[in-house]
Amino acid sequence: MFGGAKLKKLIGVGIGPGDKELITLKAIKAIKNSDVIFLPSSKGKSLAEQITEEYILDKEKVYLEFPMGEENSENYKMAAKIIDDKLSDGNIGVFLTLGDALTYSTFIYLYEELKKYEVAVEIIPGVTSFSAAFSKLKIPFSIKGEAVLVTDRDVDEKILKKVDGAVFLKANKNKSALEKLKANGFKYYYVKRLFLDGEAFYTDDKSILEDKDYLSLLLAKKE
Ligand SMILES: C[S@@+](CC[C@H](N)C(=O)[O-])C[C@H]1O[C@@H](n2cnc3c(N)ncnc32)[C@H](O)[C@@H]1O
Repeated sequence: MFGGAKLKKLIGVGIGPGDKELITLKAIKAIKNSDVIFLPSSKGKSLAEQITEEYILDKEKVYLEFPMGEENSENYKMAAKIIDDKLSDGNIGVFLTLGDALTYSTFIYLYEELKKYEVAVEIIPGVTSFSAAFSKLKIPFSIKGEAVLVTDRDVDEKILKKVDGAVFLKANKNKSALEKLKANGFKYYYVKRLFLDGEAFYTDDKSILEDKDYLSLLLAKKE
């Protein structure tokens, strides 16, 4: 802070996986107290807006375009500049992000870019997509003594041999995991669009292989 002037503040808020009741009280409070809502959008649509609509109706909203599943490095740079331009000193902005703010999230890259500006950053955690999916399926994520792999990319079989469970985000792009999981004694569950329109749960290879939805998870447990 310089000469007692109040800094701009941006709060990265994890809004959970899509169930409006899985937004934390802290997240709601931050949204209500904010001056500007920054919403990630993909091809003009913002899932974060849909999930939080009742809290942001009367708020100033700024849409930041990050096409889902694409390379967005220039967009993060632009978004940080827009946030800095849009917030006045003493203003609070919130950036709403699906699931947890620091788990494979857009917000992580934005946070890196915001370090170049005089914007104070706070972070509010959220329920991750996979934590919610395990609860929905009533399968433990981990029990005492277990090791669990969490990844959003292809996996080396050597790692699968050493873990008891595995979670694949962006599972629509990682179908090669199925054969490796089978070969190493895992049972798996594919979770698509949890809490959203088109929600589905698959365990058969045909349905899993056919699906292309970005909002998909593959959860695996060794039998
Ligand atoms: C950029 S990552 C965001 C992860 C998020 N920050 C979290 O904590 O879960 C996007 C991936 O999260 C998963 N995901 C997020 N929400 C989901 C949902 N409602 N249903 C299924 N998968 C979801 C999918 O694997 C998707 O490809």
